[in-house]
Amino acid sequence: MLDLAPVRWKEGKVSILDQRELPFSVKRIDCAKVEEVAEAIRTLAVRGAPAIGIAAGYAVALAAKNCASSGSNDCHAELLRAGELIKSTRPTARNLFWAVDKVLKATESFTAPADIAKAALAVADGILADEVERDSRLSKFGSEVLMDGYSVLTHCNTGELATGGMGSALGVLKHAWASGKKIHVYATETRPLLQGARLTTLELANAGIPATLLVDSAVGYLMQKGLVNAAIVGADRILSDGSTANKIGTYAIAVLAKEHGIPFYVAAPLSTFDLERSEIPIELRSPDEVRGFRSERTALATIEAWNPAFDITPPRLITGIITESGVLRPPYRASIARAFQGYSD
Ligand code: MRU
Repeated sequence: MLDLAPVRWKEGKVSILDQRELPFSVKRIDCAKVEEVAEAIRTLAVRGAPAIGIAAGYAVALAAKNCASSGSNDCHAELLRAGELIKSTRPTARNLFWAVDKVLKATESFTAPADIAKAALAVADGILADEVERDSRLSKFGSEVLMDGYSVLTHCNTGELATGGMGSALGVLKHAWASGKKIHVYATETRPLLQGARLTTLELANAGIPATLLVDSAVGYLMQKGLVNAAIVGADRILSDGSTANKIGTYAIAVLAKEHGIPFYVAAPLSTFDLERSEIPIELRSPDEVRGFRSERTALATIEAWNPAFDITPPRLITGIITESGVLRPPYRASIARAFQGYSD
């Protein structure tokens, strides 16, 4: 079985599995500087909201370690700078901002650089351990909504590669399969960067789950033919009313699911929820990602292209939100507020 751990702390560096090379090559990038982690996040060597959060936490821990070994007496300014750099990489995934702030906060009360570095690393390690734990709890809750024999549609990649644990939406599918439910997964290829084709099918093959890959635009026909019993996706940010940002194409899947009477679930840990904002910033990526793939051109370089990385699904289209504290149901303002009662992170 391939080792697909997306992020690790290894010998004082942040070791990142280069997901741009998957599924044909398994390479790791050992980042010795915060700038290298920022570049890995920006270029999607590491991606998926929880995995980006883990990388962000370790990036601040790396800045703290480097500052302590430089002999500096004041590392707080250096950590803030590192945090700002990491926050500037990708705007939509809530976990990235959450993880940076969590590590920064934990270091505030220390002054000695060695103590700051120790505290930062402990919190970053904790974020990784927590995500693993959150995934296994939410996967168990989620698998209860899937019946034996279901065909389930999923979008993008929400497995170990995206979370560091067993996955969110994909974790639910893995749990259902491991508990004996004979499910079949339909995985969209997920244009333009093909996270579904390159990553999700790899994880499904590793888990031995029967799966079929389809182009994003085949979803409507698949549903019209009655071949899907449920759809389940991940999330990059969920607001207090249940509005959910996820990979571009998610909204279209939710609308189609509604039209065909198919339940549409979102699976995400509470670290992806943002109860403070009322709007979600949507990342616009390079038009070149639409005009081709890797170095292969599929359209003229002069053609204008639009490349939003995410879209927003309104709560009215969501059947349930699967979290580590249970499956939340509409009305979401109330069920989300209840999930956060007594929750601290
Ligand atoms: O651009 P990506 O690959 O980072 O987008 C990932 C997604 O949209 C995932 O569905 C989301 O982050 C949830 S991962 C558990």
